Amino acid sequence: MVRSIEWVDGPRPMIRLIDQTLLPGTEQYIDVSTVDVLVESIQHLVIRGAPALGAAGALGVALAMVQGSVDGWDAARLETEIDRIRDARPTAVNLAWGVNQVRDSVPSGTPKVLKLARQVVTDDEAANRQLSKHGADWILAHVAKEKVRVLTHCNTGALATSAWGTAYGIIHELHQRERLGLVYADETRPLLQGARLTSWEMLHDGIEHVVQADSAAASTILRGLVDVAIIGADRIAANGDTANKVGSVSLALACQRAGIPFVVAAPSSTIDLSLSRGEDIVIEERHEDEVLCCAGVRMTPTGARGFNPAFDVTPHDLISIVVTERGVADTATHAQSDLLATIAGSETRVPTVTAPPGPTEPNPFPRR
Ligand code: MRU
Repeated sequence: MVRSIEWVDGPRPMIRLIDQTLLPGTEQYIDVSTVDVLVESIQHLVIRGAPALGAAGALGVALAMVQGSVDGWDAARLETEIDRIRDARPTAVNLAWGVNQVRDSVPSGTPKVLKLARQVVTDDEAANRQLSKHGADWILAHVAKEKVRVLTHCNTGALATSAWGTAYGIIHELHQRERLGLVYADETRPLLQGARLTSWEMLHDGIEHVVQADSAAASTILRGLVDVAIIGADRIAANGDTANKVGSVSLALACQRAGIPFVVAAPSSTIDLSLSRGEDIVIEERHEDEVLCCAGVRMTPTGARGFNPAFDVTPHDLISIVVTERGVADTATHAQSDLLATIAGSETRVPTVTAPPGPTEPNPFPRR
């Protein structure tokens, strides 16, 4: 199984990332030894996916300490650099969560911080494997099919996590139990995480799938070609409202109309109990060229402007369940505002990122 992120010991320790912008054509690794390169790698999606960003946040604090001792930073400079890592992307709560898991231990020294950061990585893999079992159990109990046909969006596999995957992990679990039918993988415009990364992982794991245009997904669901949609998450508010890759909410609407389950899978570190509802989630807006261009070639007339929200928010009443390593929360049929507390870790309450790096969009969902 490919590792999206690893700590490499040595005279000058560093973080090794597989460059996800080059996949599937080129399998190339980047050795990161400065905060500048780490922040750039996060912002350019060399490393991406909420749980993998959690690992980058935790290991990034250790990296900043190593750089700080080489470059002679004082405590204030180190804090500033750690904040830069925490705020590199605003929507995936795991990034700030990963930083916050270890930063209190900075006064105890790099070995202690590194030990805790490595634990974040190990725990993420364990959480993903556990939630995959819970998710597969629930789906097999609720979908009366010998082979379950699945639709998924974006990339939620090993590349997006420390290992194994979340929504992808459930799909993999169904595959291992010989209960998986055909998977429809949305290409995931504009950066094609589904077409490039999910398809690459599924070919590697021997999972039968087709890649479809995002705009085909609603029709695939309404035509009865799939039994369940499974997505990951970047931030889940206390009431179950879920931010994930843009395009997710339209899948949920189609699933509701078709009467099939819509499953959100994430480690408990993705639950942000400090936000009561999805309207409060900051949505990252990325550069318009990602929409206006395709593979570096401009597809739109000169003068056309782009709108590029990277995520959307699915209201909890459109979500059948949220599954974490701690179990399943039946989101659609419960009204409690703190529903997700039951499957969140006690350590998941993290401060909200207040200063996103770019412009943000107004949340399109009306108050309920
Ligand atoms: O912009 P990305 O590629 O970081 O977005 C990733 C997603 O939206 C994933 O679905 C989410 O982070 C869950 S990954 C297990």
